[in-house]
Formats: sequence, C-alpha cells, structure tokens
Amino acid sequence: MGANLHIPIETECTALVIRVNQQCDFSTVYIGKRLANPKDYELIPSFEAKQFNGDYTGLYSSAYTPNGTRNLLEPALQVIHADQNPSLDLKYVSHQQKSLDQSNEVILTKIYLKDPVYPFEVILHYRAYYKENIIEQWSSIQHNETDSVRLQKYSSANLYFSTFHQYYLTHFHGAWAREMIPEEIQLTAGIKVLDTKLGTRADLFQAPSFLLSFNQPINYENEDSGEVFAGTLAWTGNYKIEFEIDSMRNLRLIAGINPYASEYFLIPNKEFVTPSFLFTYSSQGLSTISHRWHQWARKYRVPDGQGNRLTLLNNWESTYFDFDEAKLTSLIQDARQLGVDLFLLDDGWFGNKYPRDNDSAGLGDWQVNRRKLPNGIGYLISQAQANNIQFGIWIEPEMVNPRSELYENHPDWVIKLPNRSEYYFRNQLVLDMSNPQVQEFVFDIVDRLFTDHPQLAYIKWDCNAVIYNAYSPTNLHQSHLYVDYVRGLYDILDRLRKKYPSVPIMLCSGGGGRVDYGILQYFTEFWPSDNTDGLERVFIQWNYSFFFPTITLCNHVTNWGKQSLKFRTDVAMMGKLGYDLVVSKLNENELKFSQQVLHDYARLKSIIWHGRLFRLVSPYRLNRDIASLIYVNAEQDQAVWFTYLVGNRYLAGSNGVIRLKGLNPLTMYKIQEINIYPGTDQSTIVSVQSISGDYLMTYGFDPVVDVQRASVVLQLTNVMN
Ligand code: DGJ
Repeated sequence: MGANLHIPIETECTALVIRVNQQCDFSTVYIGKRLANPKDYELIPSFEAKQFNGDYTGLYSSAYTPNGTRNLLEPALQVIHADQNPSLDLKYVSHQQKSLDQSNEVILTKIYLKDPVYPFEVILHYRAYYKENIIEQWSSIQHNETDSVRLQKYSSANLYFSTFHQYYLTHFHGAWAREMIPEEIQLTAGIKVLDTKLGTRADLFQAPSFLLSFNQPINYENEDSGEVFAGTLAWTGNYKIEFEIDSMRNLRLIAGINPYASEYFLIPNKEFVTPSFLFTYSSQGLSTISHRWHQWARKYRVPDGQGNRLTLLNNWESTYFDFDEAKLTSLIQDARQLGVDLFLLDDGWFGNKYPRDNDSAGLGDWQVNRRKLPNGIGYLISQAQANNIQFGIWIEPEMVNPRSELYENHPDWVIKLPNRSEYYFRNQLVLDMSNPQVQEFVFDIVDRLFTDHPQLAYIKWDCNAVIYNAYSPTNLHQSHLYVDYVRGLYDILDRLRKKYPSVPIMLCSGGGGRVDYGILQYFTEFWPSDNTDGLERVFIQWNYSFFFPTITLCNHVTNWGKQSLKFRTDVAMMGKLGYDLVVSKLNENELKFSQQVLHDYARLKSIIWHGRLFRLVSPYRLNRDIASLIYVNAEQDQAVWFTYLVGNRYLAGSNGVIRLKGLNPLTMYKIQEINIYPGTDQSTIVSVQSISGDYLMTYGFDPVVDVQRASVVLQLTNVMN
C-alpha cells in the first residue's frame, strides 16, 4: 500500500479517524470535533514505533489491539489459536462505508482485519448516527482454523485519545436505593477499571455509563462549555471498561464484556459478535451530550420512544403480598378515582403449593394463587375495564425461589454449583438462561399471559438476584455461562418484541441495577430506584438524565421520605408519572391535588417526555441549596420548569434569579405556576403575563423557592398560543 489511508467516521459535529499505514497497521489518530476539511486529518502526526520515550511498539494507538505479539499494553482482543499459539496480529484488509437509510443519516463503516498467519478475521463496525452525533461500535470475530479458538478477551471498542493532556473521569456507583452516585477523578498513569461481575445486570454497584472531560474537570455549573466525551456499554451483564494512561500520557479506552471467568470457545466459521459500545463527544459541554443521548434513544433505541406512555397506580407499597380480590378491586376503583391510565398488579399473585405470600416462596410458579384470586386475572381485568382503566401485571421470570414447584421439578434449570451450598440474593436463585429449555419456559410465561388475556396492557419485568455460584448444569462450557445468559435473555426478549412490538414493558431490577442500552432496546421504560424519597430522587434522576431520556424513567409517588406530597409529586412528574400509595388514605386536599396534577400532566407530558431537558442549577452546587431543570418543546413555545430546595441551611432557597435555557429569545412567554397545593397562600404564587425569552435567558427569573415553597413548578407558554 502507498501513503497512509484515512477512514473518517463522521457525524454532523464529531469525527473518529482511523489511519492505516503502509504496514497495514490501523490506529485511532483523532476523536473530537469534526474538521471542516477531511484532508486535514492526514496532517495529524503519527506515533512512530520508537524505543525510549515513545510508542515502543507502534501499537499504543491501535484501533483494536491484538495480544501476544509485540503489544505491551492492555489488549482489546486476546486469543489462543486452535494450535495453542497464544498470539494474534491484525492487519487492515479493506473497508466499506454504506448508508443504512434513505436520508443518509445512519452510516455503517466496516473495517476488515486479518491475522497474516492464521485464518482469523475481525470486522470492526461503526454505525454513525449523523444528526444525533452518536457512534455505535462493535466487532465481530471469526476464524477458519482446525478447531475452536479460545477467546480470552473480546472487547467491543478500543479508542485512543492523544490530543489532550489531562483526563477527568466521572463514573456512577451505588447500591440498592443509592443508585447513580457520581464521582469524578483525574486519571493517572496506569489503568482505572469500571466493571461488574453480577451476571444478571450491568450496574447496581457501578453503571456501565461514564463521562470523560478533557484538560479540566467537567463544568457542572455551566453545562454549555467544555470538551466532554460520554460512553456506555450496551450489555446487560458483566462488563469491563478500562481507562489506561500510557507512558506517552495518552488515554487508551477499552470497553466490552468482562473477560472474567468467560473464556469463549469459538468454533470454526461461527461469528462472535460483541455488544455495542456507544459514545458521543461534544465541544459544547454536558447539555449537548444529554440532548444527543435523549434524541438518539427516543428515535433509534427504546421501543415507542417517540410515542406515549401510561400513568399508573401500582399496589406494591400499599399491599406488598397481602391482598385478595376484594382489596384489589377496591384499589382498581381508587386508580380510576385518582385518574391514572392503568392499574399495575405487583408481586404476590401466583403460587399454590408454595403461595407467594412473602419473598421466600413461590417464585417460578406462574399459576394464579387460587386463594387470593379465585376468579383469576381475567376477573381483575374486567374490573379494570369496568372502571375504564387498563391493567398490567408484574413478573420476575428469570428467577426462582428454592421453595417452589419449579425448583422441585427442574433443579437442572437453576444456576448453582453441584457441590457447594446455595447462597441466595433475596431468597432466590437465577434460572439458567443459557439453557434453551429455560428460554422456552420464560418466553412462555409472558406469551401465555398475553394469549390468555389479550387485554393485558402492561408488564413490569423484575430481576432481583445476581448470579452466585456460577455454574450451568447443562452448558458444555462453564466459561460461556455469563455471556450465554445475557444472549439467552436477549433472544427471549427479541421473540417477545417480535410478537408484541408495542406493549409497554417496564424494566425493573429492585432499582437501577439494570439500566443499559442493550436491554433498553426491548423495554419502553425503567425503574430507576426503589428509593422514591423525593429529595433522593432529585439526585438520582439528575444523574440518570445525563444518559437516558425522561420518557424512560418511571417515577412513582410513594410514601418514602419526609417531603410533602407536592414535593414528591413534582419530582415524579419529571419522568413517567405513577403512584404507589393508598389512595383511600389521601385526605381531601391530597386527593384533589393529585387529581389536578394528573389532569395537568396529560397536557404537559409530551413537553416533558419529548422536549429538550436543560439542567439549570445542580443540586451538588455548593451554597445554592436548590436544583432546577427545565423541559422545552421542539417549537420552543412551551416549557415546564421545576425547582427544588435540596438543603436546609439558614435562608436556603433560590434567593434570586436562575437563567433559563432553550427558549426562543424573541418569543414572549406567559409564566404560570402549576401543581399548586390546595389552600396555598395565593400571594406567593408566581405568575407573569408576558416576558421575553431573551430576558429569561439573559437576566433570569426567580421561581421563589424557599423553605415554605420547597418545590415550584412553572409552566411557560408563548403568549400567542
Ligand atoms: C422490587 C421492585 O423494585 C419493587 O417495585 C417490587 O416490584 C418488588 N420487587 C416486588 O417483589
């Protein structure tokens, strides 16, 4: 080959550029703002393979680092060939770029690589979403050797950042009811790893989504400036993301399935396809980053992302397992009185030999409990219909209680070590989703619910266990279990979505233990946390909002926390609103308030779900004690603005103006306070007849938040509307 070849993978504002040199080595020379003239990418200097103070191998910036030959750093792909040779070399062969849609807005680039010695090939895939500025990267691995090749590490992406001097990583850790706690660190020489080994989910302890800021920490006070990169791995199981500052002080990023206990035996001529790593880069700060994820997810990833969602009343926190037909019938009437779209029956409706009366028995036995519900689910659906609302149901199909008929009848369907004692997570074990018989069983649970009850309008799919004692009684290769579990789960969900494309399904996992863009291709919404304390939720939802669109967040008003009903409701309204409390225990004002909110929400939900979110004041900001966010519709003629008191220092409150964002400077807006609690002192309510977007965004406006007004929601409307 002659001079260097450049393969730019571009979106409207960003570029990732791969250079292929004369030796057919391929490296990442640029990630950042797209250059006006693609020819200019050729000017970017290369890292020569030189010893002492340089790139010793010529591989530091490889776009997919192979193992065992001259590489000295962390590989992206590590294999042992059929002849036991533990080395890999990859050379560029060719590439292709083609549009995947009529309007050229989604472009797929494929780069074909080959080992010069072995019949072993890799294809790097890059799907660029032009308008949303998101790049989705994955690889596929194949060979034609005499026997299986052992894949010891098989990453989705390997990126290289060489134009910056300092790298700041914000990652999100947590635990049950404490999801998405951000922590920002400066990356130092060596490797920082984000990973999980939980098996059934990616996050809980550490989310697979992160932010990187270049040369300076992220500017959370001003989200419109700074160079920021955001990445997320679309995989619902063990993952590993490595950030390596190499000896040249550049950043190598490798993301993919966690190789932990997961050596994969790849048979000849079978393709191994990795999950996608998704990323975006912005030179205009964090706000742009979120807009891109939100737009992309609604348009391309989440089912019915641009459509509607149902408000609901859930019975979990009002009954737990203790209910019968009469109690549920009365809750269904409450749901109608409240004004929601749907009643959701939670855990506890199944199991006969081992009734599901608490969380230690019955899970896995998906037959209606005859004592609690003698007339079955059909009766409850008819009650919902009589009350003019829809009906949904809870399941947790991937898991089993040892005290269940399922466990008695199919011990070989359960993940557990044959010679060690069982260890439980919430008294349950995990079914072996790598077993096709189990896949069929799980598919059937959902399919049967829908075929028996075609009017069923909603599913809540829970997942309350992690994998302990990882061992499959049937899988030929134990080291395939973690990968095959997730693949088995995706296969079922894929079949279900083909058969039931539009039914709303909530992704639940006792909280945010399972939120990633792999599984979100099958779910319309997710449960961010069991923690529904209003104050906590301001923070939790704030952090999810960096990556996930508002329409996907299920926020229920419950009795958690000390905040007023108004505060809890206002916070829940910043997402898909639901309720999980005893409606009959609400006093007159509380009920009136909630009914009015639901009425207004029906009018405003589309702005909140489909509009652009601007985070105005961070709850983490020192000495401000408030959080403020605004949702603006595409036409910029309507907005909903939420502000909360999040501290209780002396005189804490808004104490002055907040500058708004996203409005049309030329538009005159009317400002009206909504979600006003009955009996509130009318003199403090904010209302303005006409004020320009320019004024609101340049000077600002005080929503008057203080200890008496701890939560304020303002609606902005173009006066001409
Ligand atoms: C955990 C979920 O987060 C709750 O909402 C509820 O559905 C329970 N599981 C039921 O067991």
